[in-house]
Amino acid sequence: MTAHLIDGNALAQQVRGEVARRVTALKDRGVQPYLAVILVGDDPASQVYTRNKVADSEQTGLKATLERYPADLPEAALLARIAALNADDSVHGILVQLPLPPHMDSHGVIEAIAPHKDVDGFHVASAGALMVGQPGFRPCTPYGCMKMLESIGMKDLKGKHAVVIGRSNIVGKPMALMLLAANATVTVCHSGTPDLKAQTLQGDIVVAAVGKRNVLTADMVKPGAVVIDVGMNRDDAGKLCGDVDFAGLKEVAGWITPVPGGVGPMTRAMLLVNTIEAAERATG
Ligand code: GUN
Repeated sequence: MTAHLIDGNALAQQVRGEVARRVTALKDRGVQPYLAVILVGDDPASQVYTRNKVADSEQTGLKATLERYPADLPEAALLARIAALNADDSVHGILVQLPLPPHMDSHGVIEAIAPHKDVDGFHVASAGALMVGQPGFRPCTPYGCMKMLESIGMKDLKGKHAVVIGRSNIVGKPMALMLLAANATVTVCHSGTPDLKAQTLQGDIVVAAVGKRNVLTADMVKPGAVVIDVGMNRDDAGKLCGDVDFAGLKEVAGWITPVPGGVGPMTRAMLLVNTIEAAERATG
């Protein structure tokens, strides 16, 4: 079997097109949707990510600003800036890029963002809303994975068994909750799971979100399963690769997401969805 690819670039382009239409509709009502991005320090990867977030926003018609602060910015100054952005009605989304410098309490900083502007979906209010099935912002990566499943006709997952590998607050746990909300039977695996293969072989859908290469190999999934690869790693040659053995799995899986060009572009696109959503809700 050769798996079908779920093309994250193509799907992200569609999503951006929908966001652009919603932006135009808001602008017609005199509202300019606005995302404020904050970067503290000079982590090279964070610099790239935040630049991309601003560029993606602008290409879609959203206003976006990138505020850069030195790594030794006092936490109180960051909190004061977030408070000002919370109070500014022209700002609809606030994103503080992680990781923050070690002297800052990331959790406290994220909690300082007004939940109705939490377009990352990291605030405990957003996590709680997801948990109890209330409207709120969904973390962009698992939200993008759900859109990818929808794109192959898997919207209602009743009768499907989904296996998530990874239990992070920003991917694994919200992923499991979103799959559950779509009526899947969900298993969450992690570093303490004794026989990972026995679990993943049960999956009609397997999501790998560990941050380690070759966590999932061809012998670990049943033929025809959908494999979603959230990983972003480098192989020995320095080439970008995911968490799964793509070459082996594409011979077994029914559908698979590539890296690059899979979940990554969808994560970026879903931030735009959350931002336009925030602007629509604020100006509804
Ligand atoms: N650092 C790595 N990914 C993310 C993300 O999605 N949001 C934020 N705020 N920081 C990150």
